[in-house]
Amino acid sequence: MKPLRVGLLGLGTVGRGTVDVLRRNQEEIRRRAGRGIEIVAAAVRDVGRARAWVGDAIPVTDRPQDLVRAPDVDIVVELIGGCEPARELVLDAIAHDKHVVTANKALLAHHGNEIFAAAQKMGVMVAFEAAVAGGIPIIKALREGLTGNRIEWLAGIINGTSNFILSRMRDTGASFDDALREAQQLGYAEADPSFDIHGTDAAHKLSILSAIAFGVPIRFDAAHVEGIADLAAADIRYAEQLGYRVKLLGITRRTPAGIELRVHPTLVPAKRLVANVEGAMNAVVVKGDAVGATLYYGAGAGAEPTASAVVADLVDVTRLHTADPEDRVPHLAFQPDALVPQPWLSIEDTVTSYYFRILVSDRPGVLADIARILADFRISIDAMFQREPAEGENRTEIIMLTHEARERDVNEALRRIEALDTVLAPVIRIRQESLS
Ligand code: NDP
Ligand code: HSE
Repeated sequence: MKPLRVGLLGLGTVGRGTVDVLRRNQEEIRRRAGRGIEIVAAAVRDVGRARAWVGDAIPVTDRPQDLVRAPDVDIVVELIGGCEPARELVLDAIAHDKHVVTANKALLAHHGNEIFAAAQKMGVMVAFEAAVAGGIPIIKALREGLTGNRIEWLAGIINGTSNFILSRMRDTGASFDDALREAQQLGYAEADPSFDIHGTDAAHKLSILSAIAFGVPIRFDAAHVEGIADLAAADIRYAEQLGYRVKLLGITRRTPAGIELRVHPTLVPAKRLVANVEGAMNAVVVKGDAVGATLYYGAGAGAEPTASAVVADLVDVTRLHTADPEDRVPHLAFQPDALVPQPWLSIEDTVTSYYFRILVSDRPGVLADIARILADFRISIDAMFQREPAEGENRTEIIMLTHEARERDVNEALRRIEALDTVLAPVIRIRQESLS
């Protein structure tokens, strides 16, 4: 059988990884897919630089708009990133009857519903394993392996760059900026790294996972998003003293009042496997009603781990190329007409435990005042210690863990605590999850 012909948009970190993996493993891939997979064209911005890397092996153009319409291309692999022109190119590829493979979570988080509808109409596939958690086959696990379950919640470390930075800060005492620079050099970070450090990239991925887990349309705008940029090294240290690690987690959960969708730094008990995921590795815990908790772990970023997922999608598309569209796995796991919008829970209605760091005057009665306010809002203290003030220092820090409380109550309690004249700075608050 003739090979399936691929047009590659982008020859950056993931594009080059994809070329390398396809070349190196072509014989295995052909045996698995039943036919060869061949890259027949690539599009980039800087043709000279791409040619210096790829040589004459693949024709390179700076006209991606031509590539997505080329009659000799069966599958378009979109690895350029961002929303435009990626959206326009992907929709044009679909309109010209091409299957699409993409690693672009920003594109799917913002325009996935539109893209999947267009693909459905044309009877083509849009595969996106590489868009979430790099090389971990989490999309396949959720869409196929766990399909017998009612998913209750999932939580994960799904941004390699943030996890890499947190690990470097903790293990080597590296500064935030140095660790970020290193992540960029290793090809983990987004073109705009503020997406990584402000939690946006994790929220892009989480909104895709949430849709697949619960059978709802993708709603990135419903996510509560906080990143690691404002985390202080002191809080990472205090968390350790209390037996916790700080991780940037994406959490989505079904509750009777709506679906939670939130990304934020989180204290996780150090004994949990997820707390020990280091560097650019990712991990996702999925809780299904039948299977219980399952854990998926692996490299979440980088050229070849991500290429592993891109190539897996290429094999899937090749295998199903001639299948009746009705017989393929639906893009978002549920049949398109069975996606049911649900209410989304606001962060203020979320119930979780908390870590507080409170800078106070070292005076009698301070702790009693704080404890009274917390009690007024039914916030119960789980653990607490006070930093030993330095010689001659008249201020100190109180570090606290609470039991579960509603965020709205916590916000109001902290407002009152911050109004005390003995409280010298806004309270540092980090949410805590037991993941049990
Ligand atoms: P890079 O920035 O390394 O590469 C982007 C490539 O796309 C470059 O070859 C660039 O061309 C090309 N490109 C960008 N804009 C255009 C355009 N308008 N027209 C034609 N070509 C264009 O990105 P990555 O490889 O890191 O990421 C690609 C995608 O994969 C993104 O969606 C990213 O989020 C996703 N991803 C990345 C991972 C990673 O670890 N890096 C992991 C998982 C997903 P030129 O070289 O000429 O500038
Ligand atoms: N910038 C992303 C990360 C790449 O660091 O996780 C993988 O999606």
